[in-house]
This record gives sequence, C-alpha cells and structure tokens, in this order.
Amino acid sequence: MTDDALRLLAADAADPVEAAVEGSLRPRSLDEYIGQREVKANLGVLLQAARAREEAADHILLYGPPGLGKTTLATIVARELGVNVRYTSGPAIERPGDLAAVLTSLDERDVLFIDEVHRLNHAVEEILYPAMEDYALDVMIGKGPSARSLRLTLKPFTVVGATTRAGRISAPLRDRFGATYRLDFYSDAELTQIVERSARILDVHIDAGAAIAIARRGRGTPRIVNRLLKRTRDHAEVHGDGRVTETAANEALRLLEIDDEGLDSTDRKLLAAIVQKFGSGPVGVAALGAVLSEEIETIEDVYEPFLLRLGFIDRTPQGRIATDLARQHLAGLGFEIPPPRRGEADMPSLWADVAGAADDPGAALGAGDR
Ligand code: ADE
Repeated sequence: MTDDALRLLAADAADPVEAAVEGSLRPRSLDEYIGQREVKANLGVLLQAARAREEAADHILLYGPPGLGKTTLATIVARELGVNVRYTSGPAIERPGDLAAVLTSLDERDVLFIDEVHRLNHAVEEILYPAMEDYALDVMIGKGPSARSLRLTLKPFTVVGATTRAGRISAPLRDRFGATYRLDFYSDAELTQIVERSARILDVHIDAGAAIAIARRGRGTPRIVNRLLKRTRDHAEVHGDGRVTETAANEALRLLEIDDEGLDSTDRKLLAAIVQKFGSGPVGVAALGAVLSEEIETIEDVYEPFLLRLGFIDRTPQGRIATDLARQHLAGLGFEIPPPRRGEADMPSLWADVAGAADDPGAALGAGDR
C-alpha cells in the first residue's frame, strides 16, 4: 500500500496544506453543518441562550472518534457567538505559565478550544479549574515560606474541550463542563450530502452514484470522505475529463485499496491478526498492538470504533473478538479463515498451543483486555 493510501484513512489532518483545503470545506455555521442532529439542536439552544443573556457560553466538552467535526464545531461556536477562537491542545500546554499566558490573552466571551483535553498534565489542570469555574487565575508569588497566592480575574470565556474518549478525562475536569456532547459516526446519506457540498465548493462535477460510492467507503467520517473526494478528482483528471463518474470513483477507490466496507489495509491486517493469529479472539489490545506495531491508543481510538460499529469486532472482558461478519468479510477478500477457538479462553492450558504463540511475544498477553 502506498503512503498516500495509508494516510488517506487516518482521520487526522497532519499536513498543513491538506488542513488548509480541509478548512475551506468546513461548514461555518450550524445551518451549514450536516449531521449530528441532536448535538446541533442542543448546541443551538445553548448558544442562543448565551447570546440573549450576553454572557459567555457554558464550557462545552465534545467527544467521539477523530475526524467527526470537533474542531469545526468549536469554530462554529465562536462564529455563532461573534467572538474569537484560540486553538490549542493538551500536550501543547506544558506548564501552568503557558496556560496562564493563553487565558490572560482572551477577550470577553472568547472561545478557547483545547484538543486532546484528556492529555493536560496535572499542574496545568489545577490552573484550569478555577479559571473555568470562577474566571480566576491563581498565581504564586515568591518562593519558600514567603510564597503567597494571588488571584487575578479573567474575562469570562468558554472552553470547548475535545477528546476521543470522555472516560479519559479526570472527574474534576469533566465536572467543569456544563454541556457534554458525543459525536457519532455519520450515516451514508449524511456523508453523501457532505461529498456533494464539498464537490460544489471545489467546483468538481460529480455523479450521484459516485458521491454515494465515496460516502459508503468513508468510515462514517467527513474528513475521510473529503479526502477520498480529492483523490477521486485527481484520478478523474488524470484518466478522464475531470468528471467524477461512478466508474471513475470505483476505480480510484480500488487503486487506493479501500474495500466495499471502507476498510483500509490496516483495518484488514487488524482483523486478520485476530482471526489468523488468535483464533478469532478473545485477544487483548496490547497483544494486537505488538503484532501490528501500532500504539494501543491508535488501535483503540482510530481503528476499533469503526470496526465495532460495523459489527466486525466485539469487546469482551477477555479481549477483542472478530465476529462472524468480519470472518465472512475477510473470506470474501480471499483471506484464509481458520476455525474460531471461541469458548476456549477459559481453558488456559490451550493457550499454550495458539498458532504462532511461541514466536509471537504479544500472543502471550492475549487473554486479557490489555
Ligand atoms: N464538511 C466536513 N464536515 C461537514 C459537516 N458536518 N457538514 C457539512 N460539511 C462538512
């Protein structure tokens, strides 16, 4: 698989040029925003009320898999409130002083977007609590016995925090968000609308069938369908007259090694590892990470959510299981499918016989969830 194809389905936007193009496709208001109906409705009320009271909106926590529109919604929140937005992230704020500098630079009712908010370190979180609760900044003056704390008043502001999993946030921080919204994968119909909207913005002629074909392979994720749209446009320009027909889209998607369910080679490798190396599971995520040379967090946050949604894997207390649906999908693609060893997880003596366990250090971890 090419680097290009590998990157295509990763739901982050690491490349600044790509991020800029993606930015041009982002909806700028709740009205333009397609999908996430409940979040939109609740957020709409929260923002309208804050506007009417002429107050900073309550702090908002957005959680869900990457690429579903958390940054976009933070930008929309600021636009709908008519204020500025500052973007930062948990790992970028290393010291309390870094956060203090950002907080003191905010204007009245501004939005502070903190991506990966679960990765804030403890010392920084301690500064954030009074800032969120009382718009207060506690700074220490001096050192040793003569040190004292000075409380500065901040202008009212709104934190929009984003995380891939709400469970990772410390309880005291979670409690300081007045509104928590979960973003879910988009339906194929919503993604089709997003593809058609993006094609209009990019001035690409696209058939209805092509938009549906791209949407179906977009893993429920706007960022991914927008990338697939751009790659199919490239294909149509190089091999045709630039019009993205259904045939051109299917051919481009085939070359990108994305299968009918939207799985890329890493998804298939993950499923194949569970099926072939671990008898279809259960297997712990640490063992899978070792076999695939992927970080546990990447497996949990990027790959698993969509495979769970498709019903291709199940999470059990013993670990991950590849379902019959997944086995059928892989069989259809020509993978060899050994019989599952279900029900044997509670017979530890049999684990010693797992195919490949002896030369696969990760396999020994298989029975646990980690
Ligand atoms: N582009 C990316 N995400 C979108 C969304 N939710 N609605 C409309 N266009 C989008």
